[in-house]
Amino acid sequence: MATQSKSAVLRAQYEAWPYPHVPLLASLPSTHPFELNAAWLWDRCGSGPAPARPRIWIAGCGTFQPYAFAVANPQAEIVATDLSEASLQIARRRCALHRQKHVAFAPVDLAEPATWPDGQFDVIECYGVLMNLADPLAALRGLRERLSPRGVLRLMVYPHWSRQRVFQLQRLARLLGLGARERHHPALLRQFVRGLPKAHPLRWAFTTYADSRNDAGVVDGFLHAGDRGFTGFQLGALLRAAGLAPGHWFHRPWGQPDVMAERLGFADRDQSFVLNYLDLWQELRSNFVVCARRFDAPPREVGPEVPHPLFAGSEHPLRHRLRLARLRTFGGRVPARTQDGDVVLQAADARAAGRGAATASLRSGGLVLGGRDHGPCLPAHVDFAAEDEFLRHAASLRVGRRAPNPLYAPLFAAFELAARHPELRLPDLETQLGRWLPWADPLEQRPIRFGLSPYGTCMRFRINVQEHLARGALPIAAGWDDVRLRDDAGWLGRVRTLLRDHPDLPARPHSNGELRELAVLLFAHDTLFLPIG
Ligand SMILES: C[S@@+](CC[C@H](N)C(=O)[O-])C[C@H]1O[C@@H](n2cnc3c(N)ncnc32)[C@H](O)[C@@H]1O
Repeated sequence: MATQSKSAVLRAQYEAWPYPHVPLLASLPSTHPFELNAAWLWDRCGSGPAPARPRIWIAGCGTFQPYAFAVANPQAEIVATDLSEASLQIARRRCALHRQKHVAFAPVDLAEPATWPDGQFDVIECYGVLMNLADPLAALRGLRERLSPRGVLRLMVYPHWSRQRVFQLQRLARLLGLGARERHHPALLRQFVRGLPKAHPLRWAFTTYADSRNDAGVVDGFLHAGDRGFTGFQLGALLRAAGLAPGHWFHRPWGQPDVMAERLGFADRDQSFVLNYLDLWQELRSNFVVCARRFDAPPREVGPEVPHPLFAGSEHPLRHRLRLARLRTFGGRVPARTQDGDVVLQAADARAAGRGAATASLRSGGLVLGGRDHGPCLPAHVDFAAEDEFLRHAASLRVGRRAPNPLYAPLFAAFELAARHPELRLPDLETQLGRWLPWADPLEQRPIRFGLSPYGTCMRFRINVQEHLARGALPIAAGWDDVRLRDDAGWLGRVRTLLRDHPDLPARPHSNGELRELAVLLFAHDTLFLPIG
């Protein structure tokens, strides 16, 4: 897809399906988005104190973010832009309804710098957008140029490995002839996937995906016209090439590279390596969300401790003052992305914050600015030169009596990385499993027997995995048209019968290769290996 036509295709998708689907009246308690506050972001990643009236650009804002940023930054000048006019209209209406007047809206194509807003920004938010672009690096370089020298750019992209089930569901939808153009296709996909056995990992991935309950979410996740994931290495290389340095990750402490590097014995590595490893082992449990600053930013400055400005002071809008009064009387819970869980705020601590005092509990809840540098200590990025070859191999169709089941290709990638790429200096699989033992939180749970995380799967099929690793390289086929499954006719017949049983699906001819691929996606989930000849 050329740059222009990709924007056109995505514009059509997001005009028809503005995202996210959140009722207009749904309101956000004013302390909830405290991690979107510019002063908090600068404390985590910027240089020096944040400007009193920061300029914020939300690039690819969708329908909800302008409201959340406006609530988190009552003193800011906010510019919210998106490719989709329909999304902007909903976002504009939401802000008007909730009396957030300090947001300006404009249609902007991130692939067309001529459409971008003027000037520099202290905070740039680009959440879930870059992976839609034909040239993410060009857009990110442009955003970096618009970032004020001491400013913070917050970015979210999908992780390559953790997102594989979603990409498999996208492939399933395409093979079934379902897409974003027809209004009834999200419902058809939902109905079809819910008809899969309860133990099917694709059904599990679909039904546990919060957005699968609404049609716009199904389109954004499973009927998308062209998104992609990034490995930890790819994201690190992208940031570096754009002249940006990662300063703070928005994963709970579990996914913070420094913490995990220490736990897993990788303290001499870099952030890209650790995040790639967490993603590959399905332990990231979030998209990649990172705050970055410019390479040429002045050095970080650690200021004196002060309570988070949203919890301190008294010069807030009335609604926020009422919320603070409630917290100072009864205490309360504040959801957080970067803490172990919600911040549980005692009334005494809320009162201390109001007086400008920083208590231990506020500190441990991340509600204090200054005092220490929150940035990662690990170096940002070291290239994995052979990664393209590794990714190609992981996605290849291998042939053999006991070939890895392509449905479980991401798990095999985790099992095989150490042996295929000794230059990464990973210990052997057994040692890796031993290191995971105290930390792994395998996703498998009844009724899913296996197949969601490498750790959980390997615990059940250790011998089979070891035998596979000892077997050595298998031949690779060009595609599903060039191979046969054992009892090929039987597999194809099962798929044809299933398609006949779903007369509501769009009628489309399928090649035998496509039927075979469907057979594996739909019926091969109870085996880790398949005879492919
Ligand atoms: C997954 S949604 C994320 C929306 C919002 N950032 C959020 O997190 O809720 C992706 C958004 O990116 C916008 N988008 C896609 N391609 C774009 C482009 N080339 N320029 C600007 N926005 C784009 C879409 O219209 C859509 O609103």
